[in-house]
Amino acid sequence: MTRAWAWLVALALAGWASPGGLPPAAEGARILGVFGHIGKSHWDVFEPLMQELARRGHQVTVVSHFPQAAPRANYTDVSLKGSLTDFSPVGQIDVTEMKVDNMWDVYNEHLLLSQLAVTGCEVAFAHPDVQRLLRSNETFDLLITELFTTDCYVAFAHHYNIPSIGLSSCMMMPWAYERFGNPQNPAYIPDLFHAHGMQMSFWERWQNSWKILLDNLAYEYLYHRPSEQVVRRYFKDLPPLKEIARNVSMMFVNTHVSLSHARPYVPAVLEVGGIHLPQRKPLPKDVKEFLDGAGEEGVVYFNMGSMIRATSMAPEKRRAFLEAFGRMGQRVLWKWEEADMPGQTPNVKTSRWLPQFDILNHPKVKVYIGHGGLLGSTEAAHAGVPMVAIPIFGDQRANVQNLLQAGMALKLDYHDVTADSVLAALKEVLQNPKYREGARRVSEAFRDRPVGPLDAAVFWTEYVLRHNGAPFLRNAVAADLAWYQRWLLDVVAASAAAFVLAVLALRALAARLLPHGPIAHKLKGE
Ligand SMILES: *[C@@H]1O[C@H](CO)[C@@H](O)[C@H](O)[C@H]1NC(C)=O
Ligand SMILES: *[C@@H]1O[C@H](CO)[C@@H](O)[C@H](O)[C@H]1NC(C)=O
Ligand SMILES: *[C@@H]1O[C@H](CO)[C@@H](O)[C@H](O)[C@H]1NC(C)=O
Repeated sequence: MTRAWAWLVALALAGWASPGGLPPAAEGARILGVFGHIGKSHWDVFEPLMQELARRGHQVTVVSHFPQAAPRANYTDVSLKGSLTDFSPVGQIDVTEMKVDNMWDVYNEHLLLSQLAVTGCEVAFAHPDVQRLLRSNETFDLLITELFTTDCYVAFAHHYNIPSIGLSSCMMMPWAYERFGNPQNPAYIPDLFHAHGMQMSFWERWQNSWKILLDNLAYEYLYHRPSEQVVRRYFKDLPPLKEIARNVSMMFVNTHVSLSHARPYVPAVLEVGGIHLPQRKPLPKDVKEFLDGAGEEGVVYFNMGSMIRATSMAPEKRRAFLEAFGRMGQRVLWKWEEADMPGQTPNVKTSRWLPQFDILNHPKVKVYIGHGGLLGSTEAAHAGVPMVAIPIFGDQRANVQNLLQAGMALKLDYHDVTADSVLAALKEVLQNPKYREGARRVSEAFRDRPVGPLDAAVFWTEYVLRHNGAPFLRNAVAADLAWYQRWLLDVVAASAAAFVLAVLALRALAARLLPHGPIAHKLKGE
């Protein structure tokens, strides 16, 4: 907080000291937020920004599946809640059905995610309250929307003729780079859906290049074109969605360099990792007693996230975890959605819901077994707790790769879960100091910033408002190049052609000059 104040004072002084002062503050702007994706963990990243903008005096209208529990000043909900009921099974995932870490599963995920994206667009635009909003005389100054699996919601930016900002609750999607002219060099930028680290062998770079290309093709045919068809039914004379999407002013990405590693971002891309971190609250009494009462050896915290039902785990996997925990001195706190657990050992406590961030910050928590979701990983990074990570789907593979590279986690394949492998992994992370050391290093780098992620996001939101969309932030030149120009394929082809021509010319010349050529024959008097 003190940092944020220091920064605000510095900003005010800079504005006062510069000859023209700052442009007028973007006060009381009318901001429209549109979030059609139904994943709660995504909304957890967007909600703090929308709330904070309202708190700072902007008039905020939010179309989403997650209306505020109680009315909030300057904040109007257009609730889509209950409109995507057909997809409720997607809300929770059965671990036993996931074939973990298989390349072809990524394409099954594309099928599922694209269906969800396109249905989400359809449901949002067809919603009577959204139609009422569109037909009203209401005007806005800025659109904030999620930039994830569909561009259909940027149609609002065109409809109201306003600039827009994209938010991403995960790392940048493979199809989000091009529009900002952001480098996406497959030599060192691993595809989000696959678990390559940044350092890749020749074979990995080969795979990564093709995976980025395939993911972009999947986006075009599974996500983009069907979204475009939906939007055309609701807006007349709309330019192609891609053209509107290329005008998105900025993108706020839920990562931080301490965890996602240095990579090139154009000024339009802002890392706001940690923006979702909640205010610390006192722990519930039973949890506090369980943690406080643990001995020196501490507590293992086990949570596979909100999307994966822990209870759907195959019985032999559950028994494997329990057997490993039974052989350990630590207490174990396990997120488990049912009242009791068959075979539960005395050192295990289960609960349907656990205040994860407060638990991770408890000094007795020594290791976190998790699926490598970005929010949980970020919370572990902030708290400096090392992990045993068991990635299941989506961006988890890539997040876990980042945790490994940062030296704060050990990866365990879900397939390989046995009592022995769980015990070995936990022992290694608990006993080898390098993991705790790595987590501490990441934690210190993660927290040390000139300004907190929420303040930064608000500053840049108002910056976009003040500068009419600030189109200069994106690399328009790169974004407007054709793909073969961007990859210099025309230059390589022309150089190769010039080389071939030069070789042919030299050969022809040599044929004339050298022993068997006509000159040689003449010289010999033939
Ligand atoms: C709502 O916005 C107005 C300015 O538009 C501001 O004065 C007021 O403080 C805001 N209310 C709250 C509760 O933040
Ligand atoms: C918008 O419509 C409402 C009634 O629906 C009216 O009270 C208001 O004055 C109108 N505002 C503008 C700017 O036309
Ligand atoms: C994109 O922005 C430019 C410059 O502001 C504008 O001329 C153009 O019409 C916009 N394109 C779309 C499709 O909104």
